Amino acid sequence: MKQQETPLFTALREYATAKPLQFHIPGHKRGSGMDPEFRDFLGLNALSIDLINIPPLDDLHNPHGIIKQAEDLAAEAFLADHTFFSVQGTSTAIQAMIMSVVEPGEKLIVPRNIHRAVVTGLILSGARPVFLKPVIDERLGIAHGITPESVSAALDEHPDAKGVLVINPTYYGFATDLAKIVDIAHKKNVPVLVDEAHGIHIGFHEDLPLSAMQAGADLAATSVHKLGGSLVQSSVLNLKGNLVSPKRVKNIFSMLTTTSTSYILLASLDAARRFLATQGHKLIERTITLAENARVAINTLPGLYSPGDDLISKEVFSYDPTKLLIHVKDLGLTGHEVDNWLRKTYNIEVELSDLYNVLCVISIGDNEETVGSLVKACLDLSRESEAWIKVPDFPDQLPKTPELKLSPREAFYAEGETISLDKAIGRICKEVVMVYPPGIPILMPGEIVNRSCFNYIKNALAYNLPIQGPQDPSLETIKVVLSQP
Ligand SMILES: Cc1ncc(COP(=O)(O)O)c(C=O)c1O
Repeated sequence: MKQQETPLFTALREYATAKPLQFHIPGHKRGSGMDPEFRDFLGLNALSIDLINIPPLDDLHNPHGIIKQAEDLAAEAFLADHTFFSVQGTSTAIQAMIMSVVEPGEKLIVPRNIHRAVVTGLILSGARPVFLKPVIDERLGIAHGITPESVSAALDEHPDAKGVLVINPTYYGFATDLAKIVDIAHKKNVPVLVDEAHGIHIGFHEDLPLSAMQAGADLAATSVHKLGGSLVQSSVLNLKGNLVSPKRVKNIFSMLTTTSTSYILLASLDAARRFLATQGHKLIERTITLAENARVAINTLPGLYSPGDDLISKEVFSYDPTKLLIHVKDLGLTGHEVDNWLRKTYNIEVELSDLYNVLCVISIGDNEETVGSLVKACLDLSRESEAWIKVPDFPDQLPKTPELKLSPREAFYAEGETISLDKAIGRICKEVVMVYPPGIPILMPGEIVNRSCFNYIKNALAYNLPIQGPQDPSLETIKVVLSQP
């Protein structure tokens, strides 16, 4: 019954209904002092709970009232010992998670295909990353997770590592055997940190991969806003067990968090938790069915392929079927072309596109009609498409992981210069260089540019493969650490 309650949301509504004479910020005072068109568009209900941490409404930085009650209910629903609410997305939760377990110079085992929030976490913490190569899927041109075997080998080679960070599930919905990774790491008393940005819903249905907390991980940064029904930017950081101190996590998270915490976002977390805890299983079941039916239909269409169970192997442990990945390379089109075509022809917006795929998120907000429209568009795409361009093949050989000379933080703060890429071999890189496919950094700050990376980047440029990260997107120049005379 407790999960039916929304202590935070309910208290905000009561505060708004009582209409106290407000002499506190925000200065718009329930919308009276703001642009009328914006006020009317947003509506007075939302504006009446756009509040801040006045005494009756508790304080996210030291919760003891309604926020604490809401966090405790969330912890129960997410099977955590402690849940910390985030109004700064999963990005800040990831940075707090990393800073809670590693100090400058200490090692953190991380997959190579990390999100930029992890790179920032490495810079803020001063940690030295030990990179693990994720499983690469050459057909799809994407990176999956890391295997338990690779974690085990890395821990043997680096017994002084202070933590293992895992992305689970990946953006594309593929999961590793997280429980096994946790088991391996815990045998060595090493905490497991999970970037669970794409997994708020998975713990609520037995047909989905195990959530980080179900798998026994120590910390998990989870975007409730992505797939759990809360407002954009609201996330949670879950903690379990006693390898990481909740007091330390709370302090560090507070250091990184605004003092003007949005109560609309916090209330949306409280309500989303209730919705997931009380309705989640039923709604996710329906979502899985919708997505699986679409997958089956798409797989009958010439030129299109949507991976699922067929990908389960020694290296891909399980997957989230609600992530509908549509591989379009066999049509002779890039994912980006299909993305634009869907927008122009059908007013359909996909979650992402890359060279070979488009990714569609099917969520508890979908129904037969919305998914039916997508399948219909795929049918037309398959029928009508003529090969518009030649899609380049997946590059044969990924480059050797470069030697890490400085920690990302040392490289970030080191004096730098911008030089021609042609002169960069042997120099310490100051920026991230990411090439798609497979969307993993070829160079990270602190790494020495080697010939194999150089050749890979040159090849990517020649084939016009998308490159992200560097300040100069043409990569004629690159930022490196100034050489010592
Ligand atoms: C794998 C991964 N980690 C972390 C994040 C950051 O999450 P947020 O946008 O909630 O800050 C994202 C966002 O897309 C992501 O894809």
